[in-house]
Amino acid sequence: MPDLIIRRLDPTPALIDALASLLVETVAGGGSVSFMHPLSVEKATGFCRAALEAAARGERIVLGAFLDDMLAGTVTLQLALPENQPHRAEIAKMMTRPAFRGRGIASALLREAERLATERGRTLLVLDTAIDGGAAGLYEKHGFVRAGEIPDFALKPQGGLTGTRLYFKRLEPPAA
Ligand SMILES: CC(C)(COP(=O)(O)OP(=O)(O)OC[C@H]1O[C@@H](n2cnc3c(N)ncnc32)[C@H](O)[C@@H]1OP(=O)(O)O)[C@@H](O)C(=O)NCCC(=O)NCCS
Repeated sequence: MPDLIIRRLDPTPALIDALASLLVETVAGGGSVSFMHPLSVEKATGFCRAALEAAARGERIVLGAFLDDMLAGTVTLQLALPENQPHRAEIAKMMTRPAFRGRGIASALLREAERLATERGRTLLVLDTAIDGGAAGLYEKHGFVRAGEIPDFALKPQGGLTGTRLYFKRLEPPAA
C-alpha cells in the first residue's frame, strides 16, 4: 500500500469534490453520517463546501487521509462549541472509502484528530455512532468510554430507525 498521508483539507474545488464523492459513496453504502440515500452530488457538494469553509474559519478541522493523491478517508474535529465548553471537542463524519477499509485508515485519522485536539488544549472528546452499522468497535479500541445509548435516534440511510451510542474520551493535557 502507498504511504498514507494525513493532512487538513482546505476549501479548494478539487478537495470539495473529493470529499463530496466520499460522502455520497459512504451514504450509499449505509454509513450513518446524517444523510439519507440517495444523496445527490449537489447536496453533498454544498455540505462539503460549507464544512471546509468552516474549517478555514478555524471552527473545525477536517482531516483527509490520502493514498498517493486519492482521498481515502476523512474525519472532522468539531471545535466550535458553546463558550462554557472550551475544553471539549467532538469527533464526527468518520469515513473510509469502502475499497480501503480494514487497513487502519480510520485509526490513523483518529490518532491525528486526538493529537490536534490535545495541541489545542482540548481535554475531552465526545462522539456518537449508530448502533446498526456504526463504528463502536473502532472507538472502543481507541479508548473511548461508552456513556450510554439512545434508542431510535436517527434514520439509517436506506430507512428504518437505529439507536445511537454515546462515547467520550479524556485526553491528557500537553506536557508543560
Ligand atoms: C467506520 C469506518 C470509518 C472504519 O474505517 P477503517 O479505515 O476500515 O477502520 P480501521 O481499518 O482503522 O479499523 C481500526 C480498527 O477498528 C475496527 N473497526 C473498524 N470499523 C469498525 C466497525 N464498524 N465496527 C467494529 N469495529 C470496527 C477494525 O476491526 C480495526 O480493528 P483491528 O485494528 O483490530 O483490525 C468505516 O467502516 C466507514 O467509513 N464506515 C461507514 C461510515 C461510518 O459508519 N462512520 C462512523 C460514523 S461515527
